[in-house]
Amino acid sequence: MDVDQGNGVSELFKAQCHLYKHIYYFIESMSLKCAVQLGIPDVIQKNNQPITLQQLVSALNFPESKANFLQRLMRVLVHSGFFETIKIHDHQEEVEEGYALTSSSKLLLKDSPHSLSPVVLTMLDPVLMNPWFSLGEWIQGKERTPFETYHGMSFGEYGKRNFNNLNEGMTSDSKLVSLVVKEHKEIFESVDSLVDVGGGTGTLARSIADAYPHVKCTVLDLPQVVANLPESENLKFVGGDMFKSIPSADAIIIKSVLLNWSDEDSIKILKRCREAIPSKDDGGKLVLVEMVINDQKDEQELTKTRLFVDMEMMLLCNGRGRNEIEWKKLFLEAGFSHYKITATSGLNSIIEVYP
Ligand SMILES: C[S@@+](CC[C@H](N)C(=O)[O-])C[C@H]1O[C@@H](n2cnc3c(N)ncnc32)[C@H](O)[C@@H]1O
Repeated sequence: MDVDQGNGVSELFKAQCHLYKHIYYFIESMSLKCAVQLGIPDVIQKNNQPITLQQLVSALNFPESKANFLQRLMRVLVHSGFFETIKIHDHQEEVEEGYALTSSSKLLLKDSPHSLSPVVLTMLDPVLMNPWFSLGEWIQGKERTPFETYHGMSFGEYGKRNFNNLNEGMTSDSKLVSLVVKEHKEIFESVDSLVDVGGGTGTLARSIADAYPHVKCTVLDLPQVVANLPESENLKFVGGDMFKSIPSADAIIIKSVLLNWSDEDSIKILKRCREAIPSKDDGGKLVLVEMVINDQKDEQELTKTRLFVDMEMMLLCNGRGRNEIEWKKLFLEAGFSHYKITATSGLNSIIEVYP
């Protein structure tokens, strides 16, 4: 059937619009990055009330000739939900529009403990974006990831050399997840010791150690990541390799780690976790804070975001997002017997896995 038969012309133009929107989707990402680089959310916050275009131009020290550009940038960002426009009255009681923050741009304030600005800057850095241009070449070639095809080295190897940049992004994500930890007392109150495997610089473990002072927390990560980090009464750092051995504890927590690894590697890590905890009768458990894709149940936007994360993991490190059936297969193969998934309001779920 011809594309314009049956569906009619309006359907065809709708399809054209849909296509163009997707061709230009990167503009949303790039506009967001530009807003973060310019510090626009902080400027609006500092203004204490909705800010007019003119005020924004002068606060950013833009030449007047760029006001028109800024207005169009802000229009896109209002449209995608990062700012809103509010009617305000000036001294002569004339009505003007001012830009205000939304919940999404409040997450971009640099001084917020939950700021995700570093994630925006990390994920939209050319180092991570350029490999998207190598997808086709990668599929036909031998390298494990498009990242490797583009950069000539793995993401892990690159991370070792440029560790700070990449880790800052993860740290800010963990600060947000720490909120979830406090909501789930039942998981932590029953354990005396816990190891955060691949716990980075300890943001999550520190929040568990602070919220549950009776829990002795250990962060296991690569030696170069945990070297010289400040410890406390119930928080210590161990440099090591999660593929080789994990310190013993009542419980193990893993956040945003298994999505970086293939199924084969994830099973190896899960087996090491199984060896490090006691039997179920003695209270052993593994707690995963990871994504569970559920396109039947979840809202489309949530699933779409998780599918994007899945693709990003494929691009960077041959990792993947998983649905419940895929998780279950890993747990059983690694020697665990059952699990319980609790959805959080964020991208990650909490999965309690028992020996
Ligand atoms: C995506 S980050 C997640 C960090 C932290 N869990 C979070 O959510 O903020 C993955 C972490 O795994 C660590 N990692 C990678 N390979 C490892 C290994 N073989 N043994 C221990 N940790 C490792 C990395 O250094 C990094 O800190």
